[in-house]
This record gives sequence, structure tokens and C-alpha cells, in this order.
Amino acid sequence: MNAESGFPIKPVYGPADVPASAGADEPGQYPYTRGVYSTMYTKRPWTMRQYAGFGTATESNARYHQLLAAGTMGLSVAFDLPTQMGYDSDDPIAHGEVGKVGVAIDSIDDMRLLFKDIPLDRVSTSMTINAPGSVLLLLYQLVAEEQGVPGTALQGTIQNDILKEYIARGTYIFPPKPSLRLVADTFAYCKAEIPKWNTISISGYHMAEAGASPAQEIAFTLANGIEYVRTAIAAGLAVDDFAPRLSFFFVARTTLLEEIAKFRAARRMWARIMRDEFGAKNPKSLMLRFHTQTAGVQLTAQQPEVNLIRVAIQALGAVAGGTQSLHTNSYDEALALPTEKSARLALRTQQVLAYESGLTGTVDPFAGSYAVEALTDAVETEATALIDRVFEFGSAVDAIEAGFQKNEIEASAYRIATEIDSGERVVVGVNRFVAETEEKYEPLRVDPAIEAAQVARLAKLRAERDEPAVQAALADLAKAAAGSTNVLPLMKEALRLRATVGEVCHTLRGVWGVHRPVERF
Ligand code: 3HC
Repeated sequence: MNAESGFPIKPVYGPADVPASAGADEPGQYPYTRGVYSTMYTKRPWTMRQYAGFGTATESNARYHQLLAAGTMGLSVAFDLPTQMGYDSDDPIAHGEVGKVGVAIDSIDDMRLLFKDIPLDRVSTSMTINAPGSVLLLLYQLVAEEQGVPGTALQGTIQNDILKEYIARGTYIFPPKPSLRLVADTFAYCKAEIPKWNTISISGYHMAEAGASPAQEIAFTLANGIEYVRTAIAAGLAVDDFAPRLSFFFVARTTLLEEIAKFRAARRMWARIMRDEFGAKNPKSLMLRFHTQTAGVQLTAQQPEVNLIRVAIQALGAVAGGTQSLHTNSYDEALALPTEKSARLALRTQQVLAYESGLTGTVDPFAGSYAVEALTDAVETEATALIDRVFEFGSAVDAIEAGFQKNEIEASAYRIATEIDSGERVVVGVNRFVAETEEKYEPLRVDPAIEAAQVARLAKLRAERDEPAVQAALADLAKAAAGSTNVLPLMKEALRLRATVGEVCHTLRGVWGVHRPVERF
């Protein structure tokens, strides 16, 4: 039994473990088990997209220029918690968190600084933002318009996956119903205004980091995906009008073969769901395109350099599994925010895989492997059964409100913790091969003066802007939120007038209320 996944890994696999046709389907063809593109990395490597952001927009802009100079191919913005939760930096609740786990973005002024000297028609930008995802997307579009870049030229992704926030991550604001309405409004707005934008990154990563097994990660992520598709169709959207721009996000753990199998099973499952349940016709609607991040929870604070080896194996799994975009964790992230050097080493790990390993020379190299094909089938079988269990509650939201996914993940997390405590699951440097003494490590620290500077900038913005116009725009937004018209155009006008992220979210809180999770023990 492999502790990581909970399903058995056999010491030897052979022809009897797989159907004769295993590995025979074509890459780039339905059901895409072998990859969404026929040429995969032989034509273009995956996007090396390093998640980064801290301090004010100025500090993060400098880090983005460093990463672009080091060869990163796409940007990935980490926001601080106040921004993720829809609070301004001068909100009392924000004290102590401003610029800490990501960059503080309060207004169009900050977004302009964040992308200073970065041409937005030449990069693709991912933004890890959920409840206020539409707000940050509109700020990005407004800054692009100031650069003379139309919405039709913009490429990128907002995570915008509110359901996994209720299950595992916690940065939700509004109750499920208005949150799903906002997701559907965002799908419709992007179809019309920013057609190349990936409107959601349906994430398994955070559920995996909370303890979900590979099968649970796939099952609960695809179940959330089904919920979003059903919501958008119920809002009147045609499936092929929005499904091509759905994207996904998974973890890559050190258990190499199961992770490769997991990605292959996920592609095959999503293709069948979109074709058979939703009747999608556009091939792009059937393709599960995904980003991968190496497993943060598997980084150790002990002997941190050992993490370089873990991340390399995890990244190998993501690439052999056919990821479209990849973030490799820095070896020191169990200790602090990555330094410039550790962030560069993380990127170099991807570059060695892309340019030295030969892996980009052929598509889906593990196809036909008795072990990987058998594991692909095993993950698919287990994940399919779990998706059925989710929908026995009615919808994914009903299951979430019943605590089903959370309970399943917590049970898995508990099993993992006991296996580590017993030593059954080895963590090198932690419960085996422990060092006598740990070397000194100098972490990157965010200067607390950051918060005061950000608060002062907000005061200046509020003093300078056309206050009556801002208040009128926010009142119009409140009216739309209370009705059924798409709220994004009115949000955009308020943000253009320099309304803040917190003010827009407070306006919506006033109409939709906030989510209060039912506490279960
Ligand atoms: N053949 C043909 N076309 C190809 C190709 C090939 N071999 N390879 C690439 N292309 C094309 C694609 O079709 C695409 O064109 P299109 O947009 O017109 O279709 C273009 O080249 C770009 O390729 P991809 O779309 O595959 O790659 P991207 O990098 O642009 O997009 C994605 C990847 C997964 C679809 C996208 O959603 C993405 O970038 N996601 C990133 C999400 C992310 O970074 N999340 C970070 C989360 S951090 C977090 O939450 C953790 C924290 O909480 C700790």
C-alpha cells in the first residue's frame, strides 16, 4: 500500500494489469489522456510561471522584472490577505497583514505600479485571487487600457474558484449563491470583453495541501468544475461559449508515478464529463488545461536544501504528467518568503528539466507503462466514485455545506499525520536521517514600515479623487448587485474613478452579506 494515495501500488505490474489498448490513444485527441496538444512540449515548453508577490506594488514589480530577466515565461501574482479578503490596507482588520504573504493592491494606482514597464500585451499573468477576482481583473484591464492594450489582447488567469475556498483555503467573502452569480457574471464579461482570458483556475492544490489524496484532489476539483459549468448554463450561457476558458490547478507531490497517473486520469475524466454530461462540441471545451505547483507541505524546515531535490522530483512528475504551466517552490519556503537566489534556483530547476533532460522531446513518455496506465485507471475509478458521492448530496455546494469534502480531506490528513508520527511515512531529515545541528539561515523579511507607507498612499488617493463620482458609481454597483444585471461593467467604472478594492467589496457585502460557515465538530 502506498501511504500517499491510500490505494495499493504493486511491486510488479504486467500486461494483465492493463487493457491491451492502454496508452494507444493519440495525444491532442479525445479523451486527451496523453495530453491536450498533439505536440505538447515538442512545440513549446510548459509556461514557467513563478508565483510571486510581497510588500507594496513597487517591491513586487522589482521581483517580476528579476524573474522575467531570469527567464520566467509568465507572471503569477500573490496578493496579501487583506486584498484576497476584500479589505483595504487601512482597514483595522488588515493591520499586521499588509504586504505580508503577497502584494497589497488597494486601487488602480497600485495596479499601475505593479505592472510598471511590463507590456501587458506581451505577458500572460495569473492572479491568485478568488472572492474579489473580478475586481482585480478589472483593475488589470484598466491598466492595460492606459497602456493602449485592448481587452482582446490580454492573456492570463484569475483563480476565481470560490468553492475550494469554502472547503480548504478560507479566503471567501460572500455566501455561495451570490459568489457563484459573480463567477457567472465574470464568465459572461470575459467572453464579451477579454475573450482570451482564462476565467477560473479550478483548484485541487489547496485541498491536496490540506491532506486530500490524489483521488480526492481530482474528484473534489472536478465536482467543483461541474458545479461552475451547471451555474453558468443556468445563468443562460452556452457551454462552448465559456468552457474553453476554464482552467485547472493541481499539486505535484514527490510520489512520482501516482502524480503522473493522477494528471492523466483527470484529463480523461474531464473530457468525458464535458462531452457526455454537457454536450460540449468545441474540442477546447473538452481539454483539461492545468497549472501545477510543487507541494508546499512537503517542504521541510529541517535541512532545507533537501527541498531542492524534492521540488525537482515533483516538477518531473508535473512535466511527465503534461502540465501547461508550472510553479516550482523555493527550497526555503518552509522558513520564509523566498529570497531572490532561492526563487532563481526554483526557476533553474524547470529550465534544467526543459533544456537538459530531453523530456520535451516526446509526448507523454509514460504512455503504455504497465504501472502508470494501471495507476491511471485506479485513480480514475476511485475519483469517479467520489464524484458520485458528492452529488448524492444534490450539488457540490450542498455537499460543502454538509461538510462532506472537508471531512474526507481531514480524515486523509489525519492518516498522513499518524503515518509520519509512526515513521511509516518517511520524511527525510524530519523522522529519519535527522541532522545533529541545523545551519543558520537568513530569511527575507517584509519591512513593517510597508504598512504605514501603503496607508499613507490610500489617504492621498481618497483626498485627490472625485468623491461624489466615486460614491455615485458605488451606489450604481449596489443597485446592480441587488438586481440581476452583470455587475462587472459598474465595478469597472467605480475602479476607474479610483474606488478601492475594499470599497467595492464593502458595497457588495452590504447587498449580499458575508458567508458564515456552519461549525461542525
Ligand atoms: N500546441 C499548440 N498550441 C499550444 C501548445 C502546443 N504544443 N502549447 C501551447 N499552446 C498554445 C495554447 O493553446 C495557448 O494558446 P490559446 O490561449 O490561444 O489557446 C498558448 O499557447 C499558451 O499555452 P497554454 O494556455 O497551455 O499556457 P498558459 O501558461 O498560457 O496557460 C493555463 C496555462 C493552465 C491554461 C492557465 O490557466 C494558467 O496559466 N494558469 C496559471 C494559474 C496559476 O499560476 N496559479 C497560481 C496559484 S498559486 C496558489 O494558489 C497557491 C498559493 O495559494 C499558495
